[in-house]
Amino acid sequence: MTSFPSDFLWGSATAAYQIEGAATEGGRTPSIWDTYSHTPGRTLNGDTGDVAADHYHRWPTDLEIMKELGLQAYRFSISWSRVQPGGRGPLNPEGVAFYRGLVEALVAAGIRPVVTLYHWDLPQELEDEGGWANRETAYAFAEYARLMARELGDAITVWTTLNEPWCSAYLGYASGVHAPGRTEPAAALAAVHHLNLAHGLAAIAIREELGEGTQLSITLNLHVIRPDDPSSAADQDAVRRIDGLANRVFLGPLLGHGYPQDVIDDAAHVSDFAFVQDGDTELIAQRLDVLGVNYYSTTRVRAFDGEGEPDQADGHGNSAATPWVGTEGQVEFVQQPGPYTAMGWNIDPSGMHDLLMRLHREHPGVPMMITENGAAFHDVVSEDGAVHDRDRTQYLHDHIDAVGRAREDGADVRGYFVWSLLDNFEWGYGYDRRFGVVRVDYDTQERTIKDSGRWYARLIASGQLPDVGAVTPVPAVP
Ligand code: FCB
Repeated sequence: MTSFPSDFLWGSATAAYQIEGAATEGGRTPSIWDTYSHTPGRTLNGDTGDVAADHYHRWPTDLEIMKELGLQAYRFSISWSRVQPGGRGPLNPEGVAFYRGLVEALVAAGIRPVVTLYHWDLPQELEDEGGWANRETAYAFAEYARLMARELGDAITVWTTLNEPWCSAYLGYASGVHAPGRTEPAAALAAVHHLNLAHGLAAIAIREELGEGTQLSITLNLHVIRPDDPSSAADQDAVRRIDGLANRVFLGPLLGHGYPQDVIDDAAHVSDFAFVQDGDTELIAQRLDVLGVNYYSTTRVRAFDGEGEPDQADGHGNSAATPWVGTEGQVEFVQQPGPYTAMGWNIDPSGMHDLLMRLHREHPGVPMMITENGAAFHDVVSEDGAVHDRDRTQYLHDHIDAVGRAREDGADVRGYFVWSLLDNFEWGYGYDRRFGVVRVDYDTQERTIKDSGRWYARLIASGQLPDVGAVTPVPAVP
Protein backbone atom coordinates (compact mmCIF):
# COMPACT_ATOMS: atom_id res chain seq x y z
CA MET A 1 0.00 0.00 0.00
CA THR A 2 1.35 3.46 -0.92
CA SER A 3 2.21 5.53 2.12
CA PHE A 4 3.56 9.02 2.60
CA PRO A 5 5.88 10.49 5.24
CA SER A 6 4.40 12.53 8.07
CA ASP A 7 5.89 15.78 6.74
CA PHE A 8 4.25 15.35 3.32
CA LEU A 9 1.88 18.31 2.95
CA TRP A 10 -1.75 17.55 2.08
CA GLY A 11 -3.94 20.38 0.94
CA SER A 12 -6.54 21.65 -1.46
CA ALA A 13 -6.45 24.48 -3.96
CA THR A 14 -8.74 27.24 -5.18
CA ALA A 15 -8.39 30.53 -7.07
CA ALA A 16 -9.84 33.95 -6.28
CA TYR A 17 -11.99 34.59 -9.34
CA GLN A 18 -13.33 31.04 -9.29
CA ILE A 19 -14.71 31.15 -5.74
CA GLU A 20 -14.85 34.60 -4.19
CA GLY A 21 -17.71 36.40 -5.91
CA ALA A 22 -18.24 39.88 -4.38
CA ALA A 23 -16.89 41.19 -7.65
CA THR A 24 -17.77 44.82 -6.95
CA GLU A 25 -17.55 44.83 -3.17
CA GLY A 26 -14.90 46.09 -0.80
CA GLY A 27 -13.28 48.35 -3.37
CA ARG A 28 -12.50 45.61 -5.90
CA THR A 29 -12.26 46.79 -9.50
CA PRO A 30 -12.68 44.65 -12.65
CA SER A 31 -10.09 42.18 -13.83
CA ILE A 32 -9.79 40.83 -17.34
CA TRP A 33 -11.93 37.88 -16.29
CA ASP A 34 -14.78 40.19 -15.25
CA THR A 35 -14.63 41.86 -18.64
CA TYR A 36 -14.28 38.61 -20.54
CA SER A 37 -17.02 36.69 -18.74
CA HIS A 38 -19.41 39.64 -19.18
CA THR A 39 -18.78 39.67 -22.93
CA PRO A 40 -21.60 37.75 -24.67
CA GLY A 41 -20.54 34.40 -26.11
CA ARG A 42 -17.32 34.02 -24.17
CA THR A 43 -18.36 31.61 -21.42
CA LEU A 44 -20.76 28.69 -21.37
CA ASN A 45 -24.27 29.94 -20.51
CA GLY A 46 -22.82 33.43 -20.10
CA ASP A 47 -21.67 32.50 -16.59
CA THR A 48 -19.55 35.00 -14.67
CA GLY A 49 -17.65 35.03 -11.37
CA ASP A 50 -19.88 37.77 -9.91
CA VAL A 51 -21.15 35.50 -7.14
CA ALA A 52 -19.28 32.23 -7.70
CA ALA A 53 -19.14 30.22 -4.45
CA ASP A 54 -19.57 33.45 -2.46
CA HIS A 55 -16.40 32.58 -0.58
CA TYR A 56 -15.77 36.29 0.15
CA HIS A 57 -18.68 36.16 2.59
CA ARG A 58 -18.68 32.48 3.47
CA TRP A 59 -15.00 31.86 4.06
CA PRO A 60 -15.51 31.06 7.78
CA THR A 61 -17.80 28.19 6.73
CA ASP A 62 -15.23 27.06 4.18
CA LEU A 63 -12.53 27.14 6.83
CA GLU A 64 -14.66 24.87 9.03
CA ILE A 65 -14.89 22.45 6.11
CA MET A 66 -11.11 22.54 5.67
CA LYS A 67 -10.76 21.69 9.36
CA GLU A 68 -13.19 18.81 9.04
CA LEU A 69 -11.22 17.45 6.12
CA GLY A 70 -8.05 17.75 8.19
CA LEU A 71 -6.28 19.83 5.53
CA GLN A 72 -2.73 20.72 6.43
CA ALA A 73 -2.38 23.43 3.81
CA TYR A 74 -4.64 25.60 1.68
CA ARG A 75 -3.60 27.02 -1.67
CA PHE A 76 -5.57 30.08 -2.70
CA SER A 77 -4.93 33.13 -4.85
CA ILE A 78 -5.13 36.83 -4.21
CA SER A 79 -7.31 38.94 -6.45
CA TRP A 80 -4.88 41.66 -7.54
CA SER A 81 -7.63 44.18 -8.26
CA ARG A 82 -9.19 43.57 -4.82
CA VAL A 83 -6.01 44.53 -2.98
CA GLN A 84 -4.65 47.05 -5.50
CA PRO A 85 -7.51 48.40 -7.62
CA GLY A 86 -6.33 49.19 -11.11
CA GLY A 87 -3.07 47.30 -10.55
CA ARG A 88 -1.02 50.32 -9.49
CA GLY A 89 -0.72 52.70 -6.56
CA PRO A 90 -1.61 52.22 -2.92
CA LEU A 91 -3.20 49.09 -1.54
CA ASN A 92 -6.90 48.96 -0.71
CA PRO A 93 -7.09 48.35 3.06
CA GLU A 94 -10.45 46.57 2.83
CA GLY A 95 -9.13 44.11 0.28
CA VAL A 96 -5.97 43.45 2.25
CA ALA A 97 -8.02 42.96 5.43
CA PHE A 98 -10.01 40.18 3.75
CA TYR A 99 -6.87 38.15 3.02
CA ARG A 100 -5.26 39.06 6.35
CA GLY A 101 -8.34 37.70 8.14
CA LEU A 102 -8.33 34.51 6.10
CA VAL A 103 -4.61 33.92 6.57
CA GLU A 104 -4.71 34.53 10.32
CA ALA A 105 -7.64 32.16 10.71
CA LEU A 106 -5.85 29.50 8.66
CA VAL A 107 -2.72 29.78 10.75
CA ALA A 108 -4.77 29.66 13.96
CA ALA A 109 -6.36 26.44 12.65
CA GLY A 110 -2.96 24.93 11.88
CA ILE A 111 -3.55 25.10 8.12
CA ARG A 112 -0.61 26.47 6.19
CA PRO A 113 -1.36 29.22 3.68
CA VAL A 114 0.16 28.67 0.24
CA VAL A 115 -0.49 31.83 -1.71
CA THR A 116 -0.65 32.38 -5.45
CA LEU A 117 -0.22 36.01 -6.38
CA TYR A 118 -1.56 35.66 -9.90
CA HIS A 119 -4.20 33.18 -10.99
CA TRP A 120 -5.17 34.89 -14.27
CA ASP A 121 -7.14 37.92 -13.04
CA LEU A 122 -5.11 40.86 -14.36
CA PRO A 123 -6.52 44.26 -13.38
CA GLN A 124 -8.38 45.52 -16.47
CA GLU A 125 -6.49 48.83 -16.50
CA LEU A 126 -3.23 46.96 -17.07
CA GLU A 127 -4.76 45.06 -19.98
CA ASP A 128 -5.88 48.39 -21.41
CA GLU A 129 -2.19 49.33 -21.48
CA GLY A 130 -1.29 46.16 -23.38
CA GLY A 131 -1.59 43.47 -20.70
CA TRP A 132 1.07 40.78 -20.61
CA ALA A 133 2.25 41.78 -24.07
CA ASN A 134 3.50 44.96 -22.39
CA ARG A 135 6.77 44.73 -20.45
CA GLU A 136 5.53 47.29 -17.91
CA THR A 137 3.04 44.73 -16.59
CA ALA A 138 5.94 42.69 -15.22
CA TYR A 139 7.17 45.66 -13.18
CA ALA A 140 3.66 46.41 -11.92
CA PHE A 141 3.35 42.78 -10.83
CA ALA A 142 6.64 42.90 -8.93
CA GLU A 143 5.48 46.02 -7.07
CA TYR A 144 2.19 44.32 -6.15
CA ALA A 145 4.15 41.26 -4.97
CA ARG A 146 6.38 43.46 -2.81
CA LEU A 147 3.42 45.18 -1.18
CA MET A 148 1.68 41.88 -0.44
CA ALA A 149 4.89 40.42 1.00
CA ARG A 150 4.94 43.36 3.41
CA GLU A 151 1.33 42.80 4.38
CA LEU A 152 1.19 39.02 4.76
CA GLY A 153 4.82 37.95 4.81
CA ASP A 154 5.13 36.49 8.27
CA ALA A 155 2.16 34.20 7.87
CA ILE A 156 2.68 32.65 4.43
CA THR A 157 4.28 29.21 4.08
CA VAL A 158 4.92 29.35 0.32
CA TRP A 159 4.74 32.33 -2.06
CA THR A 160 3.76 31.28 -5.56
CA THR A 161 4.19 34.03 -8.12
CA LEU A 162 2.15 32.75 -11.08
CA ASN A 163 -0.29 29.98 -11.79
CA GLU A 164 0.10 28.30 -15.18
CA PRO A 165 1.63 31.09 -17.25
CA TRP A 166 1.09 28.78 -20.26
CA CYS A 167 -2.65 29.46 -20.00
CA SER A 168 -2.22 33.20 -19.39
CA ALA A 169 -0.04 33.60 -22.46
CA TYR A 170 -1.36 31.17 -25.07
CA LEU A 171 -5.03 30.82 -24.13
CA GLY A 172 -5.29 34.51 -23.29
CA TYR A 173 -3.39 35.97 -26.23
CA ALA A 174 -3.22 33.30 -28.98
CA SER A 175 -6.34 31.08 -29.02
CA GLY A 176 -8.41 33.61 -27.09
CA VAL A 177 -10.42 31.04 -25.10
CA HIS A 178 -9.35 32.75 -21.88
CA ALA A 179 -9.30 36.41 -20.91
CA PRO A 180 -8.42 38.82 -22.43
CA GLY A 181 -9.50 36.80 -25.48
CA ARG A 182 -6.92 38.09 -27.93
CA THR A 183 -5.77 36.09 -30.96
CA GLU A 184 -2.36 37.63 -31.61
CA PRO A 185 0.40 35.02 -31.82
CA ALA A 186 3.27 37.51 -31.49
CA ALA A 187 1.64 39.04 -28.41
CA ALA A 188 1.36 35.56 -26.90
CA LEU A 189 5.12 35.01 -27.18
CA ALA A 190 5.78 38.44 -25.69
CA ALA A 191 3.39 37.48 -22.89
CA VAL A 192 5.37 34.29 -22.22
CA HIS A 193 8.49 36.35 -21.72
CA HIS A 194 6.86 39.07 -19.64
CA LEU A 195 5.27 36.46 -17.39
CA ASN A 196 8.67 34.81 -16.89
CA LEU A 197 10.15 38.24 -16.19
CA ALA A 198 7.32 39.08 -13.79
CA HIS A 199 8.11 35.91 -11.86
CA GLY A 200 11.80 36.80 -11.58
CA LEU A 201 11.20 40.41 -10.58
CA ALA A 202 8.57 39.39 -8.02
CA ALA A 203 10.87 36.71 -6.55
CA ILE A 204 13.57 39.34 -6.09
CA ALA A 205 11.11 41.77 -4.49
CA ILE A 206 9.66 39.16 -2.11
CA ARG A 207 13.13 38.05 -1.00
CA GLU A 208 14.15 41.69 -0.49
CA GLU A 209 11.17 42.13 1.82
CA LEU A 210 11.22 38.82 3.64
CA GLY A 211 14.73 37.44 3.40
CA GLU A 212 16.29 34.36 1.93
CA GLY A 213 14.35 31.97 4.18
CA THR A 214 11.10 32.69 2.34
CA GLN A 215 9.80 29.77 0.29
CA LEU A 216 9.35 30.83 -3.32
CA SER A 217 7.57 28.96 -6.04
CA ILE A 218 5.87 29.11 -9.40
CA THR A 219 3.17 26.71 -10.60
CA LEU A 220 3.39 25.34 -14.15
CA ASN A 221 0.97 23.16 -16.08
CA LEU A 222 3.69 21.08 -17.68
CA HIS A 223 2.52 18.93 -20.56
CA VAL A 224 3.17 15.22 -20.95
CA ILE A 225 3.36 14.91 -24.72
CA ARG A 226 3.31 11.56 -26.45
CA PRO A 227 4.04 10.82 -30.10
CA ASP A 228 1.22 9.10 -31.99
CA ASP A 229 3.79 6.77 -33.54
CA PRO A 230 6.89 6.53 -31.36
CA SER A 231 8.90 5.09 -34.24
CA SER A 232 8.17 8.09 -36.49
CA ALA A 233 10.87 10.77 -36.55
CA ALA A 234 8.29 13.27 -37.81
CA ASP A 235 5.99 12.54 -34.87
CA GLN A 236 8.93 12.86 -32.48
CA ASP A 237 9.66 16.24 -34.01
CA ALA A 238 6.04 17.27 -33.42
CA VAL A 239 6.58 16.33 -29.77
CA ARG A 240 9.73 18.47 -29.68
CA ARG A 241 7.83 21.49 -31.00
CA ILE A 242 4.99 21.24 -28.50
CA ASP A 243 7.37 20.43 -25.66
CA GLY A 244 9.29 23.60 -26.51
CA LEU A 245 6.23 25.84 -26.34
CA ALA A 246 4.56 24.08 -23.43
CA ASN A 247 7.44 23.20 -21.13
CA ARG A 248 10.93 24.30 -22.11
CA VAL A 249 10.02 27.92 -22.81
CA PHE A 250 9.25 28.18 -19.09
CA LEU A 251 11.59 25.65 -17.48
CA GLY A 252 14.58 26.87 -19.52
CA PRO A 253 14.68 30.48 -18.36
CA LEU A 254 13.29 29.76 -14.88
CA LEU A 255 15.99 27.21 -14.13
CA GLY A 256 18.84 29.20 -15.61
CA HIS A 257 19.19 27.71 -19.10
CA GLY A 258 17.63 30.58 -21.07
CA TYR A 259 15.19 30.20 -23.97
CA PRO A 260 15.54 27.06 -26.08
CA GLN A 261 17.04 27.92 -29.45
CA ASP A 262 14.73 25.54 -31.33
CA VAL A 263 11.66 27.41 -30.06
CA ILE A 264 13.13 30.71 -31.18
CA ASP A 265 13.92 29.21 -34.59
CA ASP A 266 10.51 27.55 -35.01
CA ALA A 267 8.70 30.80 -34.16
CA ALA A 268 10.98 33.09 -36.20
CA HIS A 269 8.17 33.82 -38.69
CA VAL A 270 5.99 35.01 -35.80
CA SER A 271 8.41 36.95 -33.61
CA ASP A 272 12.07 37.94 -33.47
CA PHE A 273 12.09 37.65 -29.64
CA ALA A 274 13.34 41.26 -29.46
CA PHE A 275 11.31 41.52 -26.25
CA VAL A 276 14.11 39.65 -24.48
CA GLN A 277 16.42 42.41 -23.26
CA ASP A 278 19.97 42.16 -21.95
CA GLY A 279 20.00 40.83 -18.41
CA ASP A 280 16.46 39.42 -18.53
CA THR A 281 17.51 35.78 -18.42
CA GLU A 282 19.48 36.44 -15.22
CA LEU A 283 16.51 38.25 -13.69
CA ILE A 284 14.21 35.33 -14.46
CA ALA A 285 16.49 32.61 -13.09
CA GLN A 286 15.84 33.13 -9.39
CA ARG A 287 16.26 30.17 -7.06
CA LEU A 288 13.08 28.10 -6.81
CA ASP A 289 12.54 26.59 -3.38
CA VAL A 290 9.79 24.44 -4.77
CA LEU A 291 8.31 23.94 -8.22
CA GLY A 292 4.52 23.72 -8.33
CA VAL A 293 3.30 21.06 -10.75
CA ASN A 294 -0.28 20.90 -12.02
CA TYR A 295 -1.24 17.68 -13.76
CA TYR A 296 -4.57 16.52 -15.22
CA SER A 297 -4.04 14.53 -18.42
CA THR A 298 -1.71 13.83 -21.31
CA THR A 299 -1.35 15.21 -24.82
CA ARG A 300 -0.79 13.23 -28.02
CA VAL A 301 0.54 14.67 -31.26
CA ARG A 302 1.68 13.69 -34.71
CA ALA A 303 3.17 15.47 -37.67
CA PHE A 304 0.43 16.99 -39.82
CA ASP A 305 0.27 15.12 -43.09
CA GLY A 306 -1.16 18.00 -45.09
CA GLU A 307 -4.57 16.33 -45.60
CA GLY A 308 -7.57 18.50 -44.65
CA GLU A 309 -7.48 20.69 -41.60
CA PRO A 310 -5.12 19.76 -38.76
CA ASP A 311 -6.85 19.17 -35.41
CA GLN A 312 -5.40 21.80 -33.13
CA ALA A 313 -7.73 21.26 -30.21
CA ASP A 314 -6.15 19.89 -27.08
CA GLY A 315 -8.94 20.12 -24.57
CA HIS A 316 -8.60 23.82 -23.80
CA GLY A 317 -11.71 25.17 -25.47
CA ASN A 318 -12.73 25.67 -29.06
CA SER A 319 -11.20 28.42 -31.11
CA ALA A 320 -10.34 28.85 -34.73
CA ALA A 321 -6.94 30.07 -33.56
CA THR A 322 -4.34 27.70 -32.16
CA PRO A 323 -2.61 28.30 -28.84
CA TRP A 324 0.47 26.60 -30.32
CA VAL A 325 2.13 29.63 -31.81
CA GLY A 326 4.42 28.93 -34.75
CA THR A 327 3.40 25.29 -35.27
CA GLU A 328 0.64 25.99 -37.79
CA GLY A 329 0.53 23.31 -40.46
CA GLN A 330 3.15 21.23 -38.66
CA VAL A 331 1.48 19.52 -35.78
CA GLU A 332 -1.81 17.74 -35.27
CA PHE A 333 -3.40 16.80 -31.96
CA VAL A 334 -4.68 13.26 -31.78
CA GLN A 335 -7.66 11.92 -29.87
CA GLN A 336 -6.35 9.86 -26.99
CA PRO A 337 -7.65 6.65 -25.54
CA GLY A 338 -10.18 7.05 -22.71
CA PRO A 339 -11.58 7.07 -20.18
CA TYR A 340 -12.34 10.78 -20.03
CA THR A 341 -13.50 13.26 -17.43
CA ALA A 342 -16.39 15.68 -18.00
CA MET A 343 -13.82 18.10 -19.46
CA GLY A 344 -13.13 15.54 -22.19
CA TRP A 345 -9.62 15.19 -20.76
CA ASN A 346 -8.21 11.67 -20.88
CA ILE A 347 -7.47 9.95 -17.59
CA ASP A 348 -3.91 8.62 -17.47
CA PRO A 349 -2.20 8.46 -14.08
CA SER A 350 0.98 7.14 -15.70
CA GLY A 351 1.41 10.65 -17.10
CA MET A 352 1.75 11.97 -13.54
CA HIS A 353 4.53 9.49 -12.85
CA ASP A 354 6.26 10.19 -16.17
CA LEU A 355 6.14 13.95 -15.61
CA LEU A 356 7.59 13.78 -12.09
CA MET A 357 10.34 11.41 -13.20
CA ARG A 358 11.26 13.64 -16.14
CA LEU A 359 11.54 16.67 -13.87
CA HIS A 360 13.56 14.64 -11.39
CA ARG A 361 15.95 13.51 -14.14
CA GLU A 362 16.31 16.80 -15.98
CA HIS A 363 16.19 19.20 -13.04
CA PRO A 364 17.57 17.33 -10.04
CA GLY A 365 17.64 19.26 -6.80
CA VAL A 366 14.39 21.14 -7.44
CA PRO A 367 11.79 19.99 -4.90
CA MET A 368 8.26 19.66 -6.24
CA MET A 369 4.71 19.96 -5.00
CA ILE A 370 1.61 18.87 -6.86
CA THR A 371 -0.29 22.15 -6.65
CA GLU A 372 -3.29 20.90 -8.66
CA ASN A 373 -4.73 17.56 -9.64
CA GLY A 374 -8.36 16.55 -9.82
CA ALA A 375 -11.27 15.83 -12.09
CA ALA A 376 -14.64 17.18 -13.22
CA PHE A 377 -17.52 14.75 -13.40
CA HIS A 378 -21.24 15.29 -13.71
CA ASP A 379 -22.08 14.73 -10.06
CA VAL A 380 -25.42 13.44 -8.90
CA VAL A 381 -26.94 14.29 -5.54
CA SER A 382 -28.44 11.07 -4.20
CA GLU A 383 -31.69 10.79 -2.32
CA ASP A 384 -29.69 10.63 0.90
CA GLY A 385 -28.30 14.09 0.02
CA ALA A 386 -24.79 12.72 -0.52
CA VAL A 387 -22.63 12.85 -3.62
CA HIS A 388 -21.24 9.37 -4.24
CA ASP A 389 -18.55 10.48 -6.66
CA ARG A 390 -16.75 7.22 -7.03
CA ASP A 391 -15.19 8.21 -10.38
CA ARG A 392 -13.55 11.27 -8.84
CA THR A 393 -12.35 9.24 -5.86
CA GLN A 394 -10.87 6.67 -8.22
CA TYR A 395 -9.15 9.43 -10.18
CA LEU A 396 -7.62 10.89 -7.03
CA HIS A 397 -6.60 7.47 -5.75
CA ASP A 398 -4.82 6.52 -8.96
CA HIS A 399 -3.03 9.84 -9.34
CA ILE A 400 -1.91 10.03 -5.73
CA ASP A 401 -0.70 6.46 -6.09
CA ALA A 402 1.36 7.63 -9.10
CA VAL A 403 2.83 10.42 -6.97
CA GLY A 404 3.75 7.85 -4.34
CA ARG A 405 5.44 5.66 -6.94
CA ALA A 406 7.41 8.62 -8.29
CA ARG A 407 8.57 9.35 -4.74
CA GLU A 408 9.67 5.75 -4.33
CA ASP A 409 11.56 6.10 -7.62
CA GLY A 410 13.43 9.10 -6.27
CA ALA A 411 11.37 12.17 -7.20
CA ASP A 412 11.44 14.81 -4.47
CA VAL A 413 7.72 15.54 -4.16
CA ARG A 414 6.76 17.24 -0.91
CA GLY A 415 3.06 17.87 -1.11
CA TYR A 416 -0.22 17.37 -2.95
CA PHE A 417 -3.13 19.78 -3.36
CA VAL A 418 -6.39 18.50 -4.74
CA TRP A 419 -8.16 20.73 -7.26
CA SER A 420 -10.49 21.80 -5.91
CA LEU A 421 -11.80 22.37 -2.42
CA LEU A 422 -15.13 23.63 -3.80
CA ASP A 423 -17.10 23.39 -7.01
CA ASN A 424 -16.44 26.70 -8.69
CA PHE A 425 -16.40 28.90 -11.80
CA GLU A 426 -14.47 26.78 -14.30
CA TRP A 427 -13.43 29.65 -16.58
CA GLY A 428 -14.86 29.27 -20.10
CA TYR A 429 -16.98 26.34 -18.93
CA GLY A 430 -18.69 28.38 -16.22
CA TYR A 431 -20.52 26.42 -13.51
CA ASP A 432 -21.15 23.47 -15.79
CA ARG A 433 -18.01 21.58 -14.76
CA ARG A 434 -17.56 20.58 -11.12
CA PHE A 435 -14.11 19.82 -9.73
CA GLY A 436 -14.80 20.16 -5.99
CA VAL A 437 -14.40 17.53 -3.31
CA VAL A 438 -17.11 19.66 -1.72
CA ARG A 439 -20.32 20.31 -3.64
CA VAL A 440 -21.70 23.82 -3.90
CA ASP A 441 -25.42 24.26 -4.54
CA TYR A 442 -25.34 27.52 -6.49
CA ASP A 443 -28.97 28.33 -5.65
CA THR A 444 -28.52 28.15 -1.89
CA GLN A 445 -24.69 28.22 -1.57
CA GLU A 446 -25.01 25.15 0.61
CA ARG A 447 -21.85 23.05 0.84
CA THR A 448 -21.84 19.23 0.95
CA ILE A 449 -18.70 17.17 1.41
CA LYS A 450 -18.65 14.61 -1.40
CA ASP A 451 -17.50 11.03 -0.89
CA SER A 452 -14.19 12.01 -2.52
CA GLY A 453 -13.72 14.63 0.19
CA ARG A 454 -14.38 12.09 2.92
CA TRP A 455 -11.99 9.68 1.27
CA TYR A 456 -9.35 12.43 1.06
CA ALA A 457 -9.84 13.22 4.76
CA ARG A 458 -9.17 9.62 5.57
CA LEU A 459 -6.00 9.65 3.47
CA ILE A 460 -4.73 12.75 5.27
CA ALA A 461 -5.49 11.29 8.68
CA SER A 462 -3.67 8.03 7.97
CA GLY A 463 -0.94 9.03 5.47
CA GLN A 464 -1.91 5.86 3.59
CA LEU A 465 -3.94 5.50 0.45
CA PRO A 466 -7.35 4.09 1.41
CA ASP A 467 -9.33 1.81 -0.87
CA VAL A 468 -11.68 3.68 -3.14
CA GLY A 469 -14.71 2.22 -1.44
CA ALA A 470 -13.57 3.36 1.98
CA VAL A 471 -14.91 6.60 3.40
CA THR A 472 -14.98 7.74 6.96
CA PRO A 473 -18.06 9.70 7.91
CA VAL A 474 -17.20 13.33 8.46
CA PRO A 475 -19.73 15.28 10.52
CA ALA A 476 -22.02 17.46 8.43
CA VAL A 477 -21.26 21.15 8.31
CA PRO A 478 -23.86 23.11 10.32
C1 FCB B 1 -6.16 24.60 -14.17
C2 FCB B 1 -6.40 25.93 -13.48
C3 FCB B 1 -7.48 25.88 -12.44
C4 FCB B 1 -8.63 25.00 -12.84
C5 FCB B 1 -8.14 23.65 -13.32
C6 FCB B 1 -9.24 22.72 -13.70
O1 FCB B 1 -5.64 24.84 -15.45
O2 FCB B 1 -5.22 26.39 -12.87
O3 FCB B 1 -7.87 27.19 -12.14
O4 FCB B 1 -9.41 25.64 -13.77
O5 FCB B 1 -7.28 23.83 -14.40
